Amino acid sequence: MADDHRPPAWDQYWATVEGQLSAGPSGFVRWALPYLQSAPGTDLVEVGSGAGRDMGFLLEQGFSVRGVDFSSEAVRIARQFLATLAPDVSARGHVEVGEAGAYVAGLPEGSLSGVVGLVLYETFSDPERTGLFRGIARALRPGGVHLWCVRDDAHPLREKVAMVPPNQGGPSGRVVEHTFFARSHCDALTSLGFERVALEPRPETHYFFVADRKPVASVPQ
Ligand SMILES: C[S@@+](CC[C@H](N)C(=O)[O-])C[C@H]1O[C@@H](n2cnc3c(N)ncnc32)[C@H](O)[C@@H]1O
Repeated sequence: MADDHRPPAWDQYWATVEGQLSAGPSGFVRWALPYLQSAPGTDLVEVGSGAGRDMGFLLEQGFSVRGVDFSSEAVRIARQFLATLAPDVSARGHVEVGEAGAYVAGLPEGSLSGVVGLVLYETFSDPERTGLFRGIARALRPGGVHLWCVRDDAHPLREKVAMVPPNQGGPSGRVVEHTFFARSHCDALTSLGFERVALEPRPETHYFFVADRKPVASVPQ
């Protein structure tokens, strides 16, 4: 990751938008809640936990949540935010600096109830995404869920990635490449070890909200 320009671009983004924390939890995590509540157990990982707003919501709902983010600026803001929660709530949360794929690969097999990923898979390469999805399937218990949200391929800014976070407000010149997702691309990722529970298009914001489950009788991929 030494010459990876993505973490500094996200650092700059988070330094710019820190004041937006009061925005509260995302619509996506509210949508995801019933699926997470249907999972075996309450141990969650949020990959790309950012400023911690969704982590805070999930902690308030009674989950234990480990967040990982490769932006040290995001982790600094998230730690500050988690410290404002009631002590018994923040005690179930932990956030650290790390790369999502490497972090998930290091988790014990079958140890997690759920994984949440909000708008970060866009900036992964194809091999990184494949490795992450396989790693999540491995780390989940049978019946565990993966809740993820990506931008669709009709997004009006797909031709202007310089305006999409983390490029928005970031350094000009070196633009972080983005993938915008077709439904078939979402289906191909689900096939890396999951059954599809729900895929909900959000045309007004150009997101796909996706809920996948690790089969109870797991089929080797
Ligand atoms: C859209 S933000 C998510 C924000 C967070 N869920 C929230 O509500 O505040 C995406 C986050 O993913 C992180 N990220 C992107 N790629 C990553 C990777 N490969 N490993 C770890 N974090 C990553 C970015 O640093 C950024 O903080």
